[in-house]
Amino acid sequence: MGKCCKCNGRLLCMCLLPCMMTGHLLIYVMVSIFVTISYAPPKITIHYIAPGISDSNSALASHPLGPFWNLRLEDSDECVSDCMSHKCSVPHMQDFNSLPEQMKAFIRSMHCREYPLLINQPGMCRKNNSSLDLDTPMLLMAIKSQVGNFENRQAIRETWGRSGLVRAGSIKKGRLVRTVFLLGRQDSSTGPHPDLQNLLDLENEKYGDILQWDFRDTFFNLTLKDLMFWNWFQQYCPTAIFVFKGDDDVFVRTDALLDYLNKQWEEHNLWRAYTNETGMDLFVGEVINNAMPNREPSTKYYIPESFYKGVYPPYAGGGGVVYSGSLALRLKEVSERVRLFPIDDVYLGMCIHRLGLSPNHHPGFLTFDLPEKDRGKTCAYKSVLLVHRRSPKQMLTLWKQLQNLSSQC
Ligand SMILES: *[C@@H]1O[C@H](CO)[C@@H](O)[C@H](O)[C@H]1NC(C)=O
Ligand SMILES: *[C@@H]1O[C@H](CO)[C@@H](O)[C@H](O)[C@H]1NC(C)=O
Ligand SMILES: *[C@@H]1O[C@H](CO)[C@@H](O)[C@H](O)[C@H]1NC(C)=O
Ligand SMILES: *[C@@H]1O[C@H](CO)[C@@H](O)[C@H](O)[C@H]1NC(C)=O
Ligand SMILES: *[C@@H]1O[C@H](CO)[C@@H](O)[C@H](O)[C@H]1NC(C)=O
Repeated sequence: MGKCCKCNGRLLCMCLLPCMMTGHLLIYVMVSIFVTISYAPPKITIHYIAPGISDSNSALASHPLGPFWNLRLEDSDECVSDCMSHKCSVPHMQDFNSLPEQMKAFIRSMHCREYPLLINQPGMCRKNNSSLDLDTPMLLMAIKSQVGNFENRQAIRETWGRSGLVRAGSIKKGRLVRTVFLLGRQDSSTGPHPDLQNLLDLENEKYGDILQWDFRDTFFNLTLKDLMFWNWFQQYCPTAIFVFKGDDDVFVRTDALLDYLNKQWEEHNLWRAYTNETGMDLFVGEVINNAMPNREPSTKYYIPESFYKGVYPPYAGGGGVVYSGSLALRLKEVSERVRLFPIDDVYLGMCIHRLGLSPNHHPGFLTFDLPEKDRGKTCAYKSVLLVHRRSPKQMLTLWKQLQNLSSQC
């Protein structure tokens, strides 16, 4: 070094530079080592495990922080147009043959997103049933049902799901509510089912509120009902302000729900006067955070790790959720880019996540019911919007019991 340092400044720099770089490298290495030593993986608290899991946590698999798909399917456009043939959907899953039947059936048909309507209600949201003018229901109730559940549907029609003008506490005029039931196919061709199609047709003639699509009505096909409903909604009822989506074994305090929604709507309209935002992104329900997929193969919610890794995005319990009509249209669009998932409420969570939104928690949605001791008490229902689960008989009793709730409590 001695010789070079006697020379001019530029050479001095050239000599010093490697020294400095070595120094930096040393510091970098030391910092890296320090960081590695002191690094602890961020803790996530699991508040909830997707239903059906056994008490022991041994079935829980390790998971990364972000959820990601762990399935490689051969996606090709050919498949989409060739739904019923299984030839193009051979999944690259090593353990495919060891999966439970329903998982296999799901994977084989998960690229199919179009099924024909067997029973339609094109006039549901039209004024007058004949004109092309669209009505604007405040609330469209879309209730997932199955062919055989005649009693549930009838109890709902007679109680909380009544179509027409519904009065709500603070709204004098009442608000327009429309109700449709979402069904797939259940007859001898889809399993050991008695053929009830004729009865269903009769029911539909009388009430005109059935939507039925031509796919097997199974647990893992429930997501299809959301997808099919969004398509239908866009075509036949796009002006509805809010959508309730739920099961046929819940009880909804429709008047209280309308009250709540009316407030949201008024606030939104005030807000809209100041901004140019037209759409309203409302999604409420009983929100479940950090749920793990169920890894217990014997349960009906079982999702193998080879199919989905990681925690679920925040989602709302599927007993019943409410979202705005404009969000329903956005969900329809985004769902075209979100791969189908067999558990419907989780799939909704995925779509919401994909839109950059998150579901809002509302304490009035009790998908896990009231505490047992309170179930018979009228006043316990005062802050309830939805409660799961109630049989048709219980719906009728509860409906009567809650008629004069506001004067009693
Ligand atoms: C049906 O349309 C006619 C004419 O457009 C209107 O006078 C009538 O009030 C409508 N009926 C209902 C039930 O909306
Ligand atoms: C609507 O019109 C169809 C025929 O055009 C009729 O069969 C049906 O009963 C009508 N529904 C209502 C609610 O008026
Ligand atoms: C869903 O329905 C389709 C069409 O009927 C059927 O091919 C598929 O097996 C069903 N999937 C499940 C999981 O039952
Ligand atoms: C709202 O839209 C109008 C026209 O569409 C435009 O002139 C106005 O600047 C917009 N206001 C805001 C706050 O973006
Ligand atoms: C209203 O509540 C009272 C008790 O405060 C009860 O006796 C009455 O039967 C209720 N009426 C209806 C219609 O449920």
